[in-house]
Amino acid sequence: MAYPKTLSFLISTLLFIHQLHFSAAQTVVKGGYWFPGSGLAVSSINSSLFTHLFCAFADLDSTTYKVTISSSNSAQFSTFTQTVQQKNPSVKTLLSIGGGSANPTTFSSMASQSSTRKSFIDSSIQLARANNFHGLDLDWEYPSTATDMTNFGALLNEWRAAVANESKTSGKTALLLSAAVFRSSDYYSVNYPIQAISNSLDWVNVMAYDFYGPGWAPSMTAPPAALYNPPTQISGDAGITSWVQSGLAAKKLALGLPFYGWAWRLLNANNHGLWAPANGSGIAGDGSIGYNQIKNFISQNGAQTVYNSTVVTNYCYSGTTWIGYDDTQSVSTKVTYAKGKGLLGYFAWHVGADNNWALSQAAFGAWGS
Ligand SMILES: *[C@@H]1O[C@H](CO)[C@@H](O)[C@H](O)[C@H]1NC(C)=O
Ligand SMILES: *[C@@H]1O[C@H](CO)[C@@H](O)[C@H](O)[C@H]1NC(C)=O
Ligand SMILES: *[C@@H]1O[C@H](CO)[C@@H](O)[C@H](O)[C@H]1NC(C)=O
Ligand SMILES: *[C@@H]1O[C@H](CO)[C@@H](O)[C@H](O)[C@H]1NC(C)=O
Repeated sequence: MAYPKTLSFLISTLLFIHQLHFSAAQTVVKGGYWFPGSGLAVSSINSSLFTHLFCAFADLDSTTYKVTISSSNSAQFSTFTQTVQQKNPSVKTLLSIGGGSANPTTFSSMASQSSTRKSFIDSSIQLARANNFHGLDLDWEYPSTATDMTNFGALLNEWRAAVANESKTSGKTALLLSAAVFRSSDYYSVNYPIQAISNSLDWVNVMAYDFYGPGWAPSMTAPPAALYNPPTQISGDAGITSWVQSGLAAKKLALGLPFYGWAWRLLNANNHGLWAPANGSGIAGDGSIGYNQIKNFISQNGAQTVYNSTVVTNYCYSGTTWIGYDDTQSVSTKVTYAKGKGLLGYFAWHVGADNNWALSQAAFGAWGS
């Protein structure tokens, strides 16, 4: 049976895109984000512990909708790939765009029109190539309406088409495309565009952390990044399950590992378990504290440490300061879980908070080869 000419062209084009897409499929992602304010020099990243490193963040200009790198970051970003490849020549790098401090409204506006999506897409590809990245990572936190989700899907499909075209015309390997997404396949009952994610992204980074923190859950201690948390749906396992049930292949998911914790102030120093009465941040600031600072806190204060294997969280306490976090036990258990569920891998936010590479090593070792 002969297809009409246009249909057969369409089919061969789709097959070509399909092959392009899957020929470059990653086998595993052992990822980590780095950002300039973390205090860790790029040259100090132990890149042999990662397959993919994310350089965060490029910005989205709110008037031109072009992706830009701020002048204060340009020197470190433009040499990022070359620098991390010195210790690991096969590590892949992605330029991350947006992040938790970027205004989601700018992303929402950009995605709402095809002309502004094109500005984003063309400038991002140009920027990635000009700075020697292997890929791009979109951190829009978060598309939050049904319209945003539809537009997010259109953006991803057009981004993939442009990346495929750029690869074909330049003869270079196609850029990788990933996105950091909410812990579950919906953002508070608004569903992500699963088909577009599946067709157009190499994978998504599931931000399976910040479930609880003293800023938005001040009155009780809690596991900030529990793997299990029955009877609630607020856990890494519930989130991953929702993504898989929504129809996204497990091989498109990387599980997020926080290399930091959240500190609460206990109301009573003698009541120091999970779900103990508390009142906001237990340290100066918003309560977030890097793993390396947590280890200092423990040694300086002789803090008690607990691993709860049911929930898969660590916590420590001294006086009325209580910190929920992931130590090596939580990290290895989560990575073993990710591998067992057939996920693509894991990623850490962020490598500058590790302590002598202990968490990175634990994750790397737990996945094995
Ligand atoms: C980096 O990781 C490798 C592989 O695990 C290890 O052999 C090496 O000691 C680490 N380097 C540093 C500086 O921690
Ligand atoms: C494909 O890429 C070429 C060269 O980069 C560019 O001139 C052309 O506009 C692109 N076409 C589409 C449909 O993006
Ligand atoms: C919690 O902290 C606030 C501000 O410091 C204080 O006003 C309030 O009384 C505290 N609540 C409890 C239950 O201790
Ligand atoms: C771990 O946490 C769960 C949930 O709060 C609790 O029921 C359990 O008793 C804890 N396990 C240990 C050993 O403390």
